Amino acid sequence: MSKVFIVGARRGLGKHIAEVWKKHYPQDTLLGSSRQTEKDLLFRCDLAKAEEVDGLLQFFDKEQPERVFCVAGGGPHGEFISKDWKDHQWALSVSLLSPLKIAHHCLRSQYCKQVILVGSAIAEELPDPLAASYSAAKHGLKGFVSSVVAEGVGTKDLRLFSPGYLDTAMLPVNAAVRAKGKVLSPALAAEIFVKWASEPQAAWHYSYT
Ligand SMILES: NC(=O)c1ccc[n+]([C@@H]2O[C@H](COP(=O)([O-])OP(=O)(O)OC[C@H]3O[C@@H](n4cnc5c(N)ncnc54)[C@H](OP(=O)(O)O)[C@@H]3O)[C@@H](O)[C@H]2O)c1
Repeated sequence: MSKVFIVGARRGLGKHIAEVWKKHYPQDTLLGSSRQTEKDLLFRCDLAKAEEVDGLLQFFDKEQPERVFCVAGGGPHGEFISKDWKDHQWALSVSLLSPLKIAHHCLRSQYCKQVILVGSAIAEELPDPLAASYSAAKHGLKGFVSSVVAEGVGTKDLRLFSPGYLDTAMLPVNAAVRAKGKVLSPALAAEIFVKWASEPQAAWHYSYT
């Protein structure tokens, strides 16, 4: 029996991962967070707000999850200079700085054994025009996880899951990739994620395209 915490569990890929994990491991305790908590039993945390991230880390210390999956992410869509700096700062806080802070806290804790961050097969590898700060964040996540893994994390299990385009609210309805049929099912991505996360000897990076 294990306790699993999903940052970004209310919708999108995070919600699918919660459902798949529950199906395969019904004995586990699943906890999660979202910026909205009205109808769900989720911890409220906006990753763009430092005090709420600190509150989440205190909640971790109380609940002591063995696995933490940080699925939340986002960034502004449009030319870099057309967006205000606060929009890029938001992307960097939500998609890079807060996931790193969460990983730092969990890797230093006694209770957490596994931390998985969610990158992007496209945005972490290639230029991602109209999503520069999001792409910078995803490149940063890959640089971070690969570096810490190379340092050696002892008994801890730090990983990065990098999907291709997913059929979620993040991808605009009129995105060109939808017409090209290159969009993956988030339910299937969640199945792949759960299988990989459950394999103790699996590679630290899984690029699912
Ligand atoms: N969709 C794609 O094509 C694609 C491709 C590659 C990688 N990814 C990555 O996959 C992950 C999941 O995205 P998705 O496709 O499921 O998109 P989504 O349906 O738009 O979900 C976005 C998730 O991020 C959370 N989130 C956004 N801003 C937040 C904030 N300020 N504080 C806390 N949580 C925040 C949302 O939670 P609440 O709204 O409940 O607060 C939600 O759980 C992200 O890391 C994304 O970068 C997506």
